[in-house]
Amino acid sequence: MENTAELKLEGKIYKLPVIEGTEHERAVDISSLRNDSGYITLDDSYGNTGSCRSQITFIDGEKGILRYRGIPIEELAERSTFIEVAHLIVMGKLPSSAELRRFSELLTENEMLHEDMKYHFEGFSASAHPMAILSAMINAASCFYPELLTSETMRTHFEVEAARLLSKVRTIAAFAYRKSLGLPIIYPRPDYKYTANFLHMLFSLPFKDYELKPEMVRALDLIFLLHADHEQNCSTATVRMVASSRANLFASAAAGVCALWGPLHGGANQAVLEMLTEIHRSGDDGSRFIAAAKDKQSGKRLMGFGHRVYKNYDPRAKIIKRACDEVLEKLHVQDPLLDIAKHLEEAALKDPYFVERKLYPNVDFYSGIIMRAIGIPIEMFTVIFAIGRMPGWIANFKEVMEDPQSRIYRPRQIYTGPPLNHYVPIKERH
Ligand code: SDX
Repeated sequence: MENTAELKLEGKIYKLPVIEGTEHERAVDISSLRNDSGYITLDDSYGNTGSCRSQITFIDGEKGILRYRGIPIEELAERSTFIEVAHLIVMGKLPSSAELRRFSELLTENEMLHEDMKYHFEGFSASAHPMAILSAMINAASCFYPELLTSETMRTHFEVEAARLLSKVRTIAAFAYRKSLGLPIIYPRPDYKYTANFLHMLFSLPFKDYELKPEMVRALDLIFLLHADHEQNCSTATVRMVASSRANLFASAAAGVCALWGPLHGGANQAVLEMLTEIHRSGDDGSRFIAAAKDKQSGKRLMGFGHRVYKNYDPRAKIIKRACDEVLEKLHVQDPLLDIAKHLEEAALKDPYFVERKLYPNVDFYSGIIMRAIGIPIEMFTVIFAIGRMPGWIANFKEVMEDPQSRIYRPRQIYTGPPLNHYVPIKERH
């Protein structure tokens, strides 16, 4: 039976096709609505609007389900690594041993930046936020690899370009951190794997390599893995928007970094730590803060709580919360902010304000605690999110580029400005 929706406008019935996804989520396809009826739909902030079909990630917000290419996040967190998951997300399958070796070699081959890029870092002030440096330097990287600007390269050598961006974003982030501290940059080591190399570039000294603790490497790798993709979130939708104009991968990713920076999105992990620190400093056990977060006039929100899609516990938050306890115990770290976070969660999940609005901890609520335990400074938290999200951005860019039906994203609007009026010479204006 053909599945259609009927829309009655000015006495006329319009039949609109209903499409169904793999997990039986359904949509009314309005692609022909304006041509047929002259009407558009309006959906402020796109809460009810699908922008694309995608085969990468599935989320069921009501049930708290997250799967990368069909594999539950819990299984990947338990058994996989960030680079294996990056291959799964970008190339569409878990790699064979040979494929993983090749992907790892490509990441090593592309870990260095063009030496002249160092001069760009010199131009940033020491107080520059690393997210500003990251977006600028990702775009700058394409200036040193002109072949990146041709879509032909993307088509024929996508795995190489994906590895190039995934590898260089880590080096750029590490160099930005070292620059912010006025420290000499530490070059990547070809004998180190992805996450270990990043910690090495962050924390080693010119003549004394950083002691890589396996539990720290594993904890950061898990953070990257859990952030690797998340369907059409604000930054990924931005990447697709830019990619739809046929801009190159680096320009699209740089735009994604900018969208991610906001405190309502990827900037929330930094905002959560600032919130927990404020609560700790004020001697509040969290009760006063929760009262403020419920008061619209206070301008405060319980950062790390709530989600546009999850109306249940964010499965990533569950995994990170458990990892917090494990990592802090292994590192013999006692962090009062973790206790405050747990108290906030316990109080909020019993509070009608949060329960009625289905506000639960999201990926950002506990992630900063682990990053703090590893020694990553708060200004780098969203950069860590960006590195983790790079496979998702690359995979979504690839879907746009490979879709023969893909057209430039160009939403419509409803105009509410002044009616027709005319130019008035300045001497006649009041
Ligand atoms: C990420 O989209 C993704 O997938 C994102 C992400 C990813 O992996 O890419 O999951 C990563 O960005 C996670 C979210 C990180 N942001 C935060 O933690 C910031 C705090 N959370 C909120 O600002 C908010 O919950 C959002 C931005 C996450 C979602 O906002 P929505 O869907 O627009 O919800 P809303 O602002 O309309 O809130 C609905 C109601 C409002 O109250 P009422 O007007 O109904 O009375 O809930 C309230 C809001 O005031 N509310 C909160 C709250 N979040 C929502 N009240 C207090 N504290 C909060 N955190």
